[in-house]
Amino acid sequence: MKTKFNAAGIIGLGSCVPDKVLTNFDLEKMVDTSDEWIVKRTGISERRILDKSTPASHIGAEAARKAISNAGLTPLDIDMIIVTTETPDYLTPSMACMIQDQIGAGKCPAFDLNAACSGFIYGLVVARQFIITGSCRYVLVVGCEGLSRVVDWEDRSTCILFSDGAGAAVVGAVEEGYGIISTYIGADGSLGHNITIPCCYMNESDVEKRHHENKRVIWLDGGEVFKFAVKALEEATNRVLQDAGLTINDVDLLVPHQANARIIEGAAKRLEIDNESIYVNIHKYGNMSSASIPVALDEAMRNKMIKKGDILVLVGFGGGLTLGSVLLKWNIG
Ligand code: UT7
Repeated sequence: MKTKFNAAGIIGLGSCVPDKVLTNFDLEKMVDTSDEWIVKRTGISERRILDKSTPASHIGAEAARKAISNAGLTPLDIDMIIVTTETPDYLTPSMACMIQDQIGAGKCPAFDLNAACSGFIYGLVVARQFIITGSCRYVLVVGCEGLSRVVDWEDRSTCILFSDGAGAAVVGAVEEGYGIISTYIGADGSLGHNITIPCCYMNESDVEKRHHENKRVIWLDGGEVFKFAVKALEEATNRVLQDAGLTINDVDLLVPHQANARIIEGAAKRLEIDNESIYVNIHKYGNMSSASIPVALDEAMRNKMIKKGDILVLVGFGGGLTLGSVLLKWNIG
């Protein structure tokens, strides 16, 4: 008989970013932009870029190995792999199947989940279900992105924003009262046209918006996404706080999606939370989509900014448009 668990949480974390750094000064040589504009409008100073011969799944596999080792497990202990990505190396095999093979995780179920930048939040919510129903003991969730591959490097409005990276978490059963306390995920498909990366089909409007010969590149309406993002961070944070019977004053660390420092500042003001309680690393990496939150969380843990019992809120928004949040009572330490 399967054992059902009352509580699920993150029991191991890991991350990996490519070595190659692309600075704002490098970008000044590629498009009509300046370090001053980029820092002032986005907070980004540099980003990480995969070299041409490396599949993004390689950094995902490395993040996964670190998370599994951090959890004190081996790859064969993993019962399910969920990879959140909007930039898979292949549509098939999925990035999850590629990572399963690369890390030697046996024949466990493996699938990709695309909720764009909210992907890691969606992944945690799905993983939690498999733990509390007793279907799995350990679920690996990997946020893995190679956004540099879908960027038009001649479009200054987008090429300054994005970066490659991977972050992973092992989700498993934890002591009751700890781990994932409340979750919220949502989507508004009617706003989907505001961020697009065409794949096997594209409509005329999406063809017209792209000025480069390669049409399979990211396009976004920065202003519309900005407005959605500030409200989404506020709404999704408040939802999980309400469900947990807590207030913003109870939050020890807020780990938001890292898309633009001004979006984070705008949301912080609306939420009335101190800057010291928000983890920000956008200056080093830019926007790594679904990898941003797990990379930030892993850094915060390694920098000893989180201790057992702390209340954390992970909160994201992105293409779809999607949004989501997870409130955790930290169980490691
Ligand atoms: O993860 C989810 C995905 N994306 C996001 O969350 C992005 C959300 N949006 C944003 O972060 C911001 O809207 C951007 C950073 C994309 C743009 O910042 P903005 O303050 O909204 O600038 P803007 O688009 O209103 O552009 C202002 C001006 C324009 O010039 P004009 O028309 O006023 O003459 C742009 O052409 O800045 C110009 N501009 C640039 N100038 C120098 C746009 N990109 C650049 C650039 N360098 N890289």
